[in-house]
Amino acid sequence: MDGNAFFAALWEDFARMAPQAADIRRRLVAHGERVSNDHVAFRTFDGPEVGLETLEPRVLGLGYQLLEEYRFESKHLRARAYVRAGHPRIFLSELIRAELGSGAQRLLARLLEHVPAHFAQSPDALFSGRPWPPLSHGEYQQLSDESEYAGWVAALGFRANHFTVSVNALRKLRDVQDVLRFVEDAGYRINDSGGRVKGTPSQRLEQGSTLADRMPIDFADGRHEIPTGYYEFALRHVDDAGVLYDGFVPASAHHIFDSTTRS
Ligand code: NI
Repeated sequence: MDGNAFFAALWEDFARMAPQAADIRRRLVAHGERVSNDHVAFRTFDGPEVGLETLEPRVLGLGYQLLEEYRFESKHLRARAYVRAGHPRIFLSELIRAELGSGAQRLLARLLEHVPAHFAQSPDALFSGRPWPPLSHGEYQQLSDESEYAGWVAALGFRANHFTVSVNALRKLRDVQDVLRFVEDAGYRINDSGGRVKGTPSQRLEQGSTLADRMPIDFADGRHEIPTGYYEFALRHVDDAGVLYDGFVPASAHHIFDSTTRS
């Protein structure tokens, strides 16, 4: 699968889970904007079954190179960013399960037992949904109380958590605030955890996002509506040498993770 086919399939799955993103994209195009992706982000659980190192070959296989690694202590995450010229950056994070309570660890271990042996080698692994049977809604809530991230992956599995529009590539809307106003005018809510715009020009990256869409998802005990995916907007700045910043700013990403908070 080449990069273009990968992103087309990934977007199709994502737009089904987060129809707000497809609608905002349509509105931006109708506004005369050129919409291209700055990055897409994935979430997973650490360990041999589906951990970062296990999934990484899928990303490298698309022609990407590792840029750098990040740690989000309070969210119990580590992450890696990958780049490929002319393609959206890829941000892959994993939850460090050993840092959760024993109940959550047991539940996640039970889910991971169901991951098929060669799951991570499948070309569509990163947009294949949940490779384990549904958990109960109560288990989802318990898990999410401890880690929203854990609840999200347990309920939704493998798919893009968010797509991010490159504000640099837009023609009319000039900065992240402009885009957020456009999105609000279309009737969508903005994640204001840590402020509407995360990051500063001196950090070389400014980002904002919607609050995640909500969709009915099948749990072991019936359907329940939960947060799914959100749409993000990133403006990158050049460094003192005039080179466009390629990385991510952990302090900003910390608040961006709150876009899938349940309330
Ligand atoms: Ni992002």
